[in-house]
Amino acid sequence: MKVIIKENYEEMSAAAAGLISDEIKRNKKTTLGFATGSTPIGTYKILAQMCKKGEISFKGIKTVNLDEYVGLDKTSDQSYVTFMSQNLFDLVDIDKANTNLPNGCAKNLEKECQRYTSLLQANKQDIQLLGLGSNGHVGFNEPGTSFDSHTHIVDLTESTINDNSRLFEDKSQVPKQAITMGIADIMNAKMVILLASGKAKANAIYKMVKEPASESCPASVLQNHPNCVVIIDKEAAKNL
Ligand code: F6R
Repeated sequence: MKVIIKENYEEMSAAAAGLISDEIKRNKKTTLGFATGSTPIGTYKILAQMCKKGEISFKGIKTVNLDEYVGLDKTSDQSYVTFMSQNLFDLVDIDKANTNLPNGCAKNLEKECQRYTSLLQANKQDIQLLGLGSNGHVGFNEPGTSFDSHTHIVDLTESTINDNSRLFEDKSQVPKQAITMGIADIMNAKMVILLASGKAKANAIYKMVKEPASESCPASVLQNHPNCVVIIDKEAAKNL
């Protein structure tokens, strides 16, 4: 695990966008694993600007997202389908048929988990981008999730519901469940880039980097990944 500490959010975002755009230039048919949440927004903004200037193209790119809420229609403002459209897909030349998110409204969620796991096995991520939960989650793999897990349905913890309630009118509207790539699906990526910004992530960063890998901090599994780059700002690094 290589840890890179940047001065601030902007520099963290530029470093991540640099690695992702280099991969897009190298392999025009690359498969990228994307995350939602506040952290990667700056990275997506830079990638969209680069695409607008003609420096990169997403035409042949395939994407697989980490997760989606259960029971939120994909047209809803808070769905991760909407997030990805607003923050990246509508701003670049990607073919939306090549973008994939797990379907949290599938009638049979177990079958949907199996479908998404098979999709990931057939489309290994060249790069998987991750944010970090303040409780150490990656994707929606909450503390205690098995390192061997594949796509599965999760009961969100109180801490994650609280963290995510800022994006909803009130806490009662935050879905209680999500469908997420499993930890084994994340570890299958050829390269992982984890981003974290701000002091709210400092404890999770400490556990992820300094403590022995343990299911109590899902992100700590990345210590075992052969090509993982952690890019964080000074505030997130304050306990290291
Ligand atoms: C999002 C996801 C989550 C977030 C994490 C951090 O697809 O899988 O693990 O990356 O909750 O969220 P932010 O970036 O909003 O602090």
